[in-house]
Amino acid sequence: MQGFNKYYQKPWQKRLAILKENGFLDEKEIAQLENQTVDPILGDTMIENFVTQYQLPEGLAMNYVINGKEYVVPMVTEEPSVVAAASNGARLVKLGGGFQAKSLSRLMIGQIAIENVTAMDQLVETINQRQDELLVIANHAHPSIVKRGGGARWIRTRILADDMLSLDMAVDVQEAMGANMLNTMLEAVADEIRSTLHQDILMSILSNYATECLVSAHVEIPVMVLAKEKVDGATVAAKIAQASRFAHLDPYRAATNNKGIMNGVDSVVVASGNDWRAIEAGAHAYAARDGQYRGLSQWHVDDDKLIGDLTMPMPVGSVGGSIKIVPLVKINHHLMKIESAVQLAQIIVAVGLGQNLAALYALVTDGIQRGHMRLQLKSLAASVGATKDEIPMLVNALEKQHARDSHTAKVLLKKIREGKE
Ligand code: MEV
Repeated sequence: MQGFNKYYQKPWQKRLAILKENGFLDEKEIAQLENQTVDPILGDTMIENFVTQYQLPEGLAMNYVINGKEYVVPMVTEEPSVVAAASNGARLVKLGGGFQAKSLSRLMIGQIAIENVTAMDQLVETINQRQDELLVIANHAHPSIVKRGGGARWIRTRILADDMLSLDMAVDVQEAMGANMLNTMLEAVADEIRSTLHQDILMSILSNYATECLVSAHVEIPVMVLAKEKVDGATVAAKIAQASRFAHLDPYRAATNNKGIMNGVDSVVVASGNDWRAIEAGAHAYAARDGQYRGLSQWHVDDDKLIGDLTMPMPVGSVGGSIKIVPLVKINHHLMKIESAVQLAQIIVAVGLGQNLAALYALVTDGIQRGHMRLQLKSLAASVGATKDEIPMLVNALEKQHARDSHTAKVLLKKIREGKE
């Protein structure tokens, strides 16, 4: 392999040329990468060894009335039907007055892992006694956050084993997601513990189990709006409540239930330029907080209302990271009229609950396939090479078939092109 030494230092176009010279990509593929790269300078500033911008579609979810205000919500996803389902869930919620969302707390947690501890009780006592001093050291490491009204708030210790202690620090990061800020503060405190308490530090890092940054969404929907064909609304509502119970009891179902919630959550997290891996990690850890992995949402029927709740960690930022530098992210914040990280977090959790409602509603009524089918067939048609004009014809032809796989799609497309369909 030629030219890969210090690949990251090569200009963008040279990087592409090296791929061609080494036979990884042909001329046509290189041209495609060049054509679809919107902003190589931006790409180069964001990551190493940048070659192109990966494209995902962005669509708008409608009907999101949250705390009395209506939003259009940008969602970035590759999965057909996610945007339609999110809008449909919110349409049902709107009939009951919309989502009530609130932030329960907004502090980020970080850990200093102290290893090889020999006198645990004494160490815990010393850290407790020096708590205020350690908080001051943390704040000195990042004075600008203190100026903005934030800063380190508390420290606690957790004994993980006879020789291992976690020092947890909670920081008010204001509008940022705060990962860098927190890591800087933790390292400053860790240095102090290393040098004055003579302890071995294993690592200092924020925790994505953001238990101090919880956001809730709550909905109340009149059961009558849930009626579907021959099934009355009360029956549908009771089944949705049972579906929620099923996800509470069984981790196999809980994982799928939560995946559906994350369909909505991740799409908005990505559109808002936040770190979706952090949100995923926190969500799943929170779902297992009592020792069993459970559904994150709860649905129950009260009189003539279906009541839904979702509480989950939502440590997103409204500033920092890619938010300032990616033009589309800026537009998305503007679209949602984001004024604070808390507001963004509330929108995201509301979308998670709306998405969950749409999935459960479909599952306990028609089944998931009926609603999904046309969108999935559209994707199938595109995947076998149907053009924009051929896609509707191929979808119609596929709808009449029992077997709706790529082989059938290819055969039908050939027939359409030969004028036989
Ligand atoms: C598919 O992406 C998501 C669902 O499986 C969620 C669920 O089952 O609740 C439909």
